[in-house]
Amino acid sequence: MKAYRAALLWFAPHHEGPALARFEQDGLLVIGPDAAGRLVVLAIGDFRTMQGTYPDVPVEHLPGRIIAPGFVDMHVHFPQTNVIGSPAAGLLPWLENYTFPEEKRFEAPEYSAQAAHFFVAELLRNGVTTALAFATSHPESVNALFDEAQAQQMRLITGLCLMDRNAPDTVLNRCADEGCASRAEQSLVDSEALIQRWHGKGRLGYAITPRFAPSCTDVQLQGAGELAARYPDVWIQSHVAENKDEIAWARQLFPQSRSYLATYEDFGLLRERAIYAHCIHLDAADRSLMRETGAAAAVCPTSNLFLGSGFFDYLEADCAGFAYGLASDVGGGTSFSPFHTMLAAYYVGREGQAKAGLSLSPQHLWWQHTAGAARALGLDGVVGNLLPGCEADFVVLNPKATPLLERKTSLASSLNELLFSMIVLGDDRLVERAVISQAIS
Ligand code: GUN
Ligand code: ZN
Repeated sequence: MKAYRAALLWFAPHHEGPALARFEQDGLLVIGPDAAGRLVVLAIGDFRTMQGTYPDVPVEHLPGRIIAPGFVDMHVHFPQTNVIGSPAAGLLPWLENYTFPEEKRFEAPEYSAQAAHFFVAELLRNGVTTALAFATSHPESVNALFDEAQAQQMRLITGLCLMDRNAPDTVLNRCADEGCASRAEQSLVDSEALIQRWHGKGRLGYAITPRFAPSCTDVQLQGAGELAARYPDVWIQSHVAENKDEIAWARQLFPQSRSYLATYEDFGLLRERAIYAHCIHLDAADRSLMRETGAAAAVCPTSNLFLGSGFFDYLEADCAGFAYGLASDVGGGTSFSPFHTMLAAYYVGREGQAKAGLSLSPQHLWWQHTAGAARALGLDGVVGNLLPGCEADFVVLNPKATPLLERKTSLASSLNELLFSMIVLGDDRLVERAVISQAIS
């Protein structure tokens, strides 16, 4: 067992109200192994009340620091680290001119391994302790990312990118086996083998990953849906309704479906643990479909602003009642930093909510990138919070990390003011440490 004395930020259980932050100026966080040998939070609260309860537990005192839940990135592309900041007229030319040429390189295991090493280090340096990530269509890239996350004992979900048409051969699923009938068939065989190798191993999870409907044939989407039905606790990840040209293309390719989103439903790909990036241009029936099926949206504000895709509609999402959380979407997204993502989400929220005289509160923004994202992933009570029983993944923040942060945070007279100062001025310098729950063997 071990305890940390610092200011503490966490969230009330969801049934007490959404996005309800708790803050203890002088708090104690006690962590220790659970029955399964995972390092979890045993207790959290005010130092003075709790100190006598744990007399023999060593306490690390972190004066002036804030301990908060590790951030959860609901949608990020591991092979796109080098693609950040590539200008294009919009999504489709960006994919063709920058993204596919870079993703081609992940066919080589050594290239994948060094990129995975950098990617995981960069997530942790920015305070992201859980991620749902895209790999490429090459199994080498999936193995490299799982290997790296396993070495760090990080909670990470990824999967083989399914794409069997409408892209250069070099980034389509390969037909490797002698008896392989098609790219689609091979990609599904490979996906299942990867599920069996990695899903549920330590803190790793598998996601069935059709890139987006336009990159997959009917056969491939059908097979992905069947795989999802056979493995109900595996995740699904894809993209939907990001960009007007993309939507027109998807409608043309799947005219029998009611909408772009409905295409995924028609192939059995909307359910709990199905995470769809963007969800910008949805209609009312789509939003009801999201809620009814239990699918969730990964909101990617820096990416949507960078690629000029549009603005996620928070008011309509809340009205419909489907789950969502925040994501960097690197490399369409411009930063690994959750602070940059939360600030961009604030701007996006203003676009939709200003008319109603509303804006997203700092507590809600923070929740969207921690407990809210975990909930949307089906990991409520596992990560994204510091309630007892949660895995002990947390960040140590130094609110004096820069002269301006020090000046501004010292003026805060409420929790919302303190959180907003960090959201607006924060970046990787604010994150002094990310602590990952380690298995005790
Ligand atoms: N749609 C299909 N592939 C991608 C991708 O890599 N990034 C984004 N932002 N959208 C996509
Ligand atoms: Zn994406």
